[in-house]
Amino acid sequence: MKLTPRLLNIAKMVAKGAILADIGTDHGYIPVYLMKNKIVKEAIAADVNKGPLLSAQKNIKSNGLEEYIETRLGNGFEPIEPGEVDTAIIAGMGGLLIRDILMNRPEVTKSIKQFILQPMVAQDELRRWLYDNDFKIVDEKLVSEDHRIYEIIVAEHGHEIIEDEIYFEIGKKLIEHKDPLLEMFIKKHIKKQEDIIHNLINQDTDKAKNKLKECKAKIHKFEEVLLWLKN
Ligand SMILES: C[S@@+](CC[C@H](N)C(=O)[O-])C[C@H]1O[C@@H](n2cnc3c(N)ncnc32)[C@H](O)[C@@H]1O
Repeated sequence: MKLTPRLLNIAKMVAKGAILADIGTDHGYIPVYLMKNKIVKEAIAADVNKGPLLSAQKNIKSNGLEEYIETRLGNGFEPIEPGEVDTAIIAGMGGLLIRDILMNRPEVTKSIKQFILQPMVAQDELRRWLYDNDFKIVDEKLVSEDHRIYEIIVAEHGHEIIEDEIYFEIGKKLIEHKDPLLEMFIKKHIKKQEDIIHNLINQDTDKAKNKLKECKAKIHKFEEVLLWLKN
């Protein structure tokens, strides 16, 4: 089975021998891939909706893995017992939904060592929440697929002081590792701020002026990172 680059790079973050819960598994491609390649020891594929879970069950069956991958229906970590898994993947959802899933069953979240998160939107809000709630980000990766750049965040319990707000938008680990897609990623962020500035240009309210200042400060920070990358 061939995974798309986004799914493959999420799977690559899973440690050998992990006991995994894939929350919002949908098609179940990740647990199937990880079990077929003998990377995980045990896996639970969970989804809140019956349709996706059925599709995971079909895929698991067609790969002859029914005995090895359990499927469970339920919201977030609700179908998982504390201590049952050491690794969780929550991918392909909004950052705020991922945050809610991490928040809603603290007794399960507490018992999991590693979280592989792939938010589609609100990535900055998710990072901020992680840092404010005793998580540290231990790794990050950018993946390009279908003209889009996806962010993969690996988090563990712990504490980390964030020196600059910029790291909520551009993960610190991406900068530390000089991620190969970082330049393109930052340029996209700059373009987004420039578009906001363009829409604000003829507005004379205090709110608009503050936003303009904020956008310009962000662009300045992004350009600093770009400059550092080139040196
Ligand atoms: C866009 S799919 C992503 C599937 C896969 N994780 C991926 O990254 O390709 C989102 C899946 O999450 C499921 N989902 C949404 N909210 C959920 C929740 N609160 N708990 C569990 N699953 C959820 C949906 O039913 C859907 O199957």
